[in-house]
Amino acid sequence: MSRFQCSPLCLTVAAIIAFTHTCAQLTPDFYEHVCPDALPTIRGVVEQAIQQEPRMGASLLRLHFHDCFVNGCDGSNLLDDTPTFTGEKTAGPNLNSLRGFDVVDQIKSELNSVCHGNVVSCADIVAVAARDSVNIFGGPAYQVLLGRRDATTASFNDANNDIPPPSSNLQALLSNFQNHGLNLQDLVVLSGGHTIGVARCGIYLPRITNDTNIDSDFRASLQKGCPNAEAQNNNTNPLDSTTTLFDTVYFKDLLQFKGLLHSDQELFKNDGSETDGLVTLYSNNPEAFWADFGASMIKMGNLKPLTGQNGQIRQNCRRVN
Ligand code: HEM
Ligand SMILES: *[C@@H]1O[C@H](CO)[C@@H](O)[C@H](O)[C@H]1NC(C)=O
Ligand SMILES: *[C@@H]1O[C@H](CO)[C@@H](O)[C@H](O)[C@H]1NC(C)=O
Repeated sequence: MSRFQCSPLCLTVAAIIAFTHTCAQLTPDFYEHVCPDALPTIRGVVEQAIQQEPRMGASLLRLHFHDCFVNGCDGSNLLDDTPTFTGEKTAGPNLNSLRGFDVVDQIKSELNSVCHGNVVSCADIVAVAARDSVNIFGGPAYQVLLGRRDATTASFNDANNDIPPPSSNLQALLSNFQNHGLNLQDLVVLSGGHTIGVARCGIYLPRITNDTNIDSDFRASLQKGCPNAEAQNNNTNPLDSTTTLFDTVYFKDLLQFKGLLHSDQELFKNDGSETDGLVTLYSNNPEAFWADFGASMIKMGNLKPLTGQNGQIRQNCRRVN
């Protein structure tokens, strides 16, 4: 996994050699002149989609995470497989799980019309749709930096290797995040993304079967809808008990050992660790959660963007031009 970000050193070098492609900066006003209606258009489609199916907001947030963690936020996970190309959609963390592609298509086609041409990248669409989803569910309206361009390729193997599995322990989660230039606080606050959305039975079955740091009533209630992975693999359960509110209940649930995923509960073990402290802080301080979540999303959104002349603006998010 490579982990290139625009470090201070890199930025200094970039300033000296008068801006290189790789270090070009994302900016909040990238589309202000080329397509002033871009952001309101994205917001409108996301609102409609969430009205039709609330879970879609969660799905769009996760789409951005799975894009950024695999070779940077470059729209690579939107590429469809072809007879000669295997992209990221069938990789383990994504197969039968990642969703929202139709909504991205709809946004793209409205933008191509509203902007009188192909000017907004798919990677930026996903970044903005994720932010809008968070905000529509009551979370922060952090400022999304823009100007990403789209990858012309994708990596099945990197999608399998670079997205942490839910069986991860704290050390594995932390080193995965550190490999992406993110720290322990980013890990805890971004895991708060699980304040919305659901997981499938097959995913949380190992936890409700084998974990001991789980509330017993919570375990019993989950076992009813998830007796075994084969029979009911597609049954889902909310990741926290208020699944369409971007609130602090995800963290409150962890304090009660009601984390749905093994990886969630790894963040709180009541052992006085640093992650315990952060979970406790966010559990009763929505303002801190929202502010820090926004800051960490911006950090995640800055992972290895393609800028300048690199990559392309895809006409159709599902295939390269
Ligand atoms: C820390 C490591 C993480 C792990 C191990 C993890 C794992 C998972 C798993 C296994 C699912 C359920 C997938 C399924 O059953 O199909 C899920 C769902 C979800 N994840 Fe994560 N995740 C992590 C971090 C994040 C981050 C950083 C975000 C966003 C900021 C995020 C947002 C979501 C959302 C919103 C859903 C629900 C999606 C939906 O309902 O369609 N996750 N995650
Ligand atoms: C529970 O743990 C046992 C022993 O490690 C393992 O064989 C089994 O597959 C686990 N169950 C689930 C559902 O993961
Ligand atoms: C689960 O859903 C996926 C697609 O949504 C489908 O391909 C698969 O067959 C389903 N599995 C079961 C056990 O129903």
